[in-house]
Amino acid sequence: MLVPFAEAKGKKVLEIGTGNGADGVMFALNGAIYTGVDLTEAALEATRKHFKALGLSGVFQKENAEHLSFPDESFDFVYSHGVLHHTPNTQVAIDEVYRVLKPGGRAIIMLYHKHSFNYCVRIMAYMRSRVLLKILSRTGRRRVDRERALFQSPAGLRGNTDCRIWEIHYHNFLKEGWSYLKAENFVHHCTDGPECPVAFAFSKTDAQRLFSRFQRVQMKVAHFPLNRYPLGRCLPFGVERFLADKIGWYLFIFASK
Ligand SMILES: C[S@@+](CC[C@H](N)C(=O)[O-])C[C@H]1O[C@@H](n2cnc3c(N)ncnc32)[C@H](O)[C@@H]1O
Repeated sequence: MLVPFAEAKGKKVLEIGTGNGADGVMFALNGAIYTGVDLTEAALEATRKHFKALGLSGVFQKENAEHLSFPDESFDFVYSHGVLHHTPNTQVAIDEVYRVLKPGGRAIIMLYHKHSFNYCVRIMAYMRSRVLLKILSRTGRRRVDRERALFQSPAGLRGNTDCRIWEIHYHNFLKEGWSYLKAENFVHHCTDGPECPVAFAFSKTDAQRLFSRFQRVQMKVAHFPLNRYPLGRCLPFGVERFLADKIGWYLFIFASK
């Protein structure tokens, strides 16, 4: 297991970006003194319900990862999974993690991995080509499309599985122009769906820089859901593990203060 939940027993744990509390309850079940923060009330409410259903206790607070309200050196352990790549300034958020950790405290942070199949092949090659084809197929009708787009409101989609995502990418293109397809812009709209405003992906070198104030920085690449790809289900699990290790989508960073 990548996250050593059991090691958090009796320790003050801060989770940044709780989502529905799935990892939070694991910390609490393992005896952590848990505080969960998130930018949205909806995520905090889902986390509270999750804890309540299991009879667990914790502190839940609305906070922005870039400006935490906790005093310096408040926590033994800071955990954040799939969150700090969604904040506009990831470095500021990592500096906040460092500030609130006690000396000797540990951080485990998962960020999206740039040198991955998902980033290089699926997002930058496949998805970009599909959006480009959609744009080209509307040549000659773009002025009318642009006028119509002004009156469209967000569809509220999350993820990339809904067939309407190509329409939304095209809509984003109408608003932003050709710069929408630049790698640094396009990635924002291709990880958690086309309406996601901010998402970055980081290489190991980027992560070294982000965590330069920390000690004992180690990294592990993971997550390659082979079963989502044609023929993927036919391959042995060892292949999935090999690919996850080399070109997986999750970059876990383990670091100490
Ligand atoms: C993709 S979800 C991940 C949730 C959970 N950690 C998981 O792995 O399932 C991202 C979460 O981070 C929260 N979030 C995004 N930016 C944040 C910020 N700057 N400060 C605090 N929470 C933030 C979002 O509201 C959302 O609940």
